[in-house]
Amino acid sequence: MKPVKIGICGLGTVGGGTFNVLAKNAAIVAARAQVPLQVVHVGARRNNPACEMGDTRVSRDIFEVARDPEVQILVELIGGTTVARELIEEAIRNRKHVVTANKALIAEFGNEIFALADDYNVTVRYEAAVAGGIPIIKALREGLAGNRIEWLAGIINGTGNFILSEMRDKSREFADVLAEAQSLGYAEADPTFDVEGIDAAHKLVILAALAFGMPLRFDAVYTEGITRVTPQDLGYAQELGYRIKHLGVARQNGEGVELRVHPTLIPEQRLLANVNGVMNAVLVEGDAVGPTLYYGAGAGAQPTASAVIADLVDLARDLSVGQTCRVPALGFARDSLRDLPIVPIEKVETAWYLRMEAQDKPGVMSRVTSIFSEQGISIEGLIQKAPAAAQTCVAVIVLTNKAAQGNVDKAVRAIEALDTINGDITRIRVEALDG
Ligand code: HSE
Repeated sequence: MKPVKIGICGLGTVGGGTFNVLAKNAAIVAARAQVPLQVVHVGARRNNPACEMGDTRVSRDIFEVARDPEVQILVELIGGTTVARELIEEAIRNRKHVVTANKALIAEFGNEIFALADDYNVTVRYEAAVAGGIPIIKALREGLAGNRIEWLAGIINGTGNFILSEMRDKSREFADVLAEAQSLGYAEADPTFDVEGIDAAHKLVILAALAFGMPLRFDAVYTEGITRVTPQDLGYAQELGYRIKHLGVARQNGEGVELRVHPTLIPEQRLLANVNGVMNAVLVEGDAVGPTLYYGAGAGAQPTASAVIADLVDLARDLSVGQTCRVPALGFARDSLRDLPIVPIEKVETAWYLRMEAQDKPGVMSRVTSIFSEQGISIEGLIQKAPAAAQTCVAVIVLTNKAAQGNVDKAVRAIEALDTINGDITRIRVEALDG
């Protein structure tokens, strides 16, 4: 049988991994696709020493791959949202199917790219864009198609999870762990995307669109990274029976959709609280299926290649047996996507962990607790640590019941204004993840 012809653009960590896994698992992939897959053209600025190119054509100009009449599926693995977008659009206009791992591009320009692909009757697949090797896109788009998805919550940035895990378990410095994540090929080209939560926001937007049948709304995500999580907070959280994880949460409630990424205290007995290192996990609650959990490597050459190849197998099978566009890009028919309202972050209700430094004097705690009560915030627990030797200040940790961010903001401002409270208050959301 004539092989399906593939072009790969980008031969870095993921491109090199895809090229090598396709070669290593050629027989099993061909058996599953019902047709052999052949990489006929690679576009890359430089060769990857880990890849044996043999007689595969290599071009320094990636657009030659998009225009190559022999190529049937173009795999975009260069990243970024400028040249990558032009490349994918050029490939679509040349009537090639596309596979990409580019979460930024899908989150920010996916609506336009999917519309263009529909116009040209080709398919764009992006399994590798979210949670590395975990087949979460397929699970949401197809496996859970019979459910109304109520909410999902995930650890969807491997670098951030690696940093928080190493800081907590090995007392390592933030910068030192980030440098290791970069050397292992986990971190983004611009690592602020990982540590400031932007990468997780890209991925959350994609998951929410698939879960709720809405267009991609990167503009609407509330985003907070991990740069302000201190070893002190990791330690106090542990003492209280929690772990701090960087979580993406998408939830439908009566008012609309919550879309948020931020550090979160999770009870230590929850499975998500025990997802460590570069591993990712996504918890999805469907009305029929109940809670489901998807776990696996969230970054790295071979796990991401695994997801890219899954898309290639789907497309190759479509090409070989002629079932193009089996499932729409976002799972829902395009004309049934709904522009759901986004709940403003001030109105989002969660429980809270608040840490402050208070002067060790009579009456301080009673003033603090009355401010919470004035804002209608109920306190779940309050711990005052013993002062260190020769110190007149103590750390105070407050756990609240559910309260809207707007009310917590007001209480925090009023408490910070007290002359018995030093400096700023640290605030981290708490999610029980039980409904
Ligand atoms: N920088 C990303 C992460 C790579 O650390 O999760 C995978 O998307």
